[in-house]
Amino acid sequence: MNLVYEKVKRCFDVIRQKTDFQPAVGIVLGSGLGGFADNIQVEAEISYGEIEDFPVSTVAGHAGKFIFGYLRDKPVVCMKGRVHYYEGYVVSDVVLPVRLMYLMGVKTLFLTNAAGGIQSGMKAGDFMLLTDHIACFVPNPLVGSNAEEFGPRFPDMSEIYDRSLRKIIESVAEEFRIPIKEGVYAQLTGPSYESPAEIRLLKALGADAVGMSTAVEAITANHMGMKVCAISCISNLAAGLNENPLTHTEVQEAADKAAPLFQKLVTESILRF
Ligand code: HPA
Repeated sequence: MNLVYEKVKRCFDVIRQKTDFQPAVGIVLGSGLGGFADNIQVEAEISYGEIEDFPVSTVAGHAGKFIFGYLRDKPVVCMKGRVHYYEGYVVSDVVLPVRLMYLMGVKTLFLTNAAGGIQSGMKAGDFMLLTDHIACFVPNPLVGSNAEEFGPRFPDMSEIYDRSLRKIIESVAEEFRIPIKEGVYAQLTGPSYESPAEIRLLKALGADAVGMSTAVEAITANHMGMKVCAISCISNLAAGLNENPLTHTEVQEAADKAAPLFQKLVTESILRF
């Protein structure tokens, strides 16, 4: 058996010893968006630390656990805290949680993140629906011997962010009068924020927002045939577009402020998936 598959399967076996809950939708919560989990009628919680082999996040503000339960009548699993490449994990570990959710039965994955805004006219507190991404500055999560259990060797990536899910999110945003932009997300490794020249480069390449997560997770989910959607909460303008230096505190505060509207958008969308 493939080593990556074996590792995910070991984690899955630990989960199944603790709960047999079958989520249909998986949600990954980005910086400052953890409060979303309070909307879930909780059936079970499993801290990442309880799962031997699971990469445990070290970032302040990224408490690590799976929360299983219902969003009204929808069975969901929520990841409160994700694993980032900049923490020093190999990329196959960074995406292990997404593969684990696939084994749990998740068919639809909703990724969220805090990101720096690049698109003209963006401001802190805006939301951006991802239409596509640029992931060629980070290692591809599918490198290595291919686990056929998950998907094909050379998967198509021409529509990573599912069009029908995007339509639903857009209609919810309209219904609740939540302004939402759309655009291309570029993932960089971090942990340093970008230089102004790097932001100019990304802009020239067609990026509308920049962050340190999400794209590798979306590739992995797409490989397995999951439907994927993602929203960035623009926590700051990217380097050089803003007078002040960037801080993690600023990013978290902006995400905290946007959280109530964000939670509404995510919840109402999932109920319509
Ligand atoms: N750059 C990269 N990642 C980020 C940013 C940023 O400006 N803001 C929040 N996450």
